Amino acid sequence: MPNAAITGWGEALPPAVLTNADLSTFLETSDEWITTRTGMKERRVSHVSAIEMATIASSRALACAGIEATDLDLIIYGGCSNDEVVPNSASGVQVALGAVHAGAMDLNTACTSFLYGLSTATALIQNGTIRTAVVIGVELITRYMDWSNRNVAVLFGDGAAAVVMQRSEREEGVIASVLGCDAEARQVLRVRGMGCSYAGIGVTLGDTVWDFDGQSIFKRAVKGMSDACERVMRHAQVSGDQVDLVIPHQANLRIIEAVAKYAGVPMDRVMVTVQKYGNMSAATVPVSLVEALKDGRVKPGSLLLMPGFGGGLTFGALLVRWGDRVTPLGTSSLDFPPLTQSALEMVNAVRSRQDPGGRSSAGLQAPVFAETRVHART
Ligand code: ACO
Repeated sequence: MPNAAITGWGEALPPAVLTNADLSTFLETSDEWITTRTGMKERRVSHVSAIEMATIASSRALACAGIEATDLDLIIYGGCSNDEVVPNSASGVQVALGAVHAGAMDLNTACTSFLYGLSTATALIQNGTIRTAVVIGVELITRYMDWSNRNVAVLFGDGAAAVVMQRSEREEGVIASVLGCDAEARQVLRVRGMGCSYAGIGVTLGDTVWDFDGQSIFKRAVKGMSDACERVMRHAQVSGDQVDLVIPHQANLRIIEAVAKYAGVPMDRVMVTVQKYGNMSAATVPVSLVEALKDGRVKPGSLLLMPGFGGGLTFGALLVRWGDRVTPLGTSSLDFPPLTQSALEMVNAVRSRQDPGGRSSAGLQAPVFAETRVHART
């Protein structure tokens, strides 16, 4: 049976940085509280749409793999903060890239969407349906955040990353996957009102209610990810000391530490980015993978363990055997347009449209942000 190698990778991190001190200007919180409870110091706020972030990340991944957009057979767009539901977001990436031969699917399992996407693309490559795919993890959460709710507002950030997967006859790529869902507890993590166009007609910025039971999520995240790690390692007959790097979902540093301990992997073999980017939901694992590659922490033949957990409550863990190449074949010139506002100004623009309860004061509102267009083809 063929395998599905990861041959390209790229990230798209918005340049605007929101610090804990920025959050303290409008929330009763502190750098000390956020740092000790979560490990987070700062996060990014996007001034472009989720589709545009996904397009930048995908363009960089394609250049890294040395292939053209027209070589793609499938685009899997993983995330839960989509600009729109119909048409789907993957089709927005397809047209921006000019990937005219690619199918385009959105995949929403919340924070685990990228992991589910990797597993899905691997299976489709292995069964011969496709040869080449781009799998994206992307979230634009700051537009949907209830900025009056300190329980959740401090936790999240925006970002995207993507990988190219190609058919390979070598022993590389995803070698084992465990996917699951703790649906009995699906009500402990719910965002009512998520998924409306932020910059189109009928914008309902900030019209969301975040129902989170943080402590229950914390315990279930540790259990879900730890169980998934144990099962995927047993399935592949590997132990913690054979894992070269754990690249986990980044919801909270304490969750990551607990999962690493259960997996039997010391923290010096765990990739942590939560301090820089917060929780970017579906984007945390691919962004951490790209940063690990940039930092030289992924070596030829490395064994990577990727556990994740998210709304649903979905969970999963993948074991990935890296191939030979750890450097990009090329680079893309596609980048974010220049910033016109700071991260705090963008957040305050969303806040100004929200009631104290977090609901927008009117159903239909004009866009706060000028719509920008990112097109790889122009
Ligand atoms: N600043 C200051 N105080 C705060 C803040 C804040 N931002 N948020 C909550 N508090 C207060 C609470 O109101 C509470 O006050 P009280 O004791 O007077 O009632 C106090 O801090 C302690 O709150 P706890 O809930 O006990 O804090 P905990 O140590 O559990 O940490 C946290 C909370 C960080 C949310 C943690 O539970 C957690 O990380 N949960 C899981 C992460 C999560 O929900 N992520 C969301 C996405 S899910 C995913 O990605 C898997």
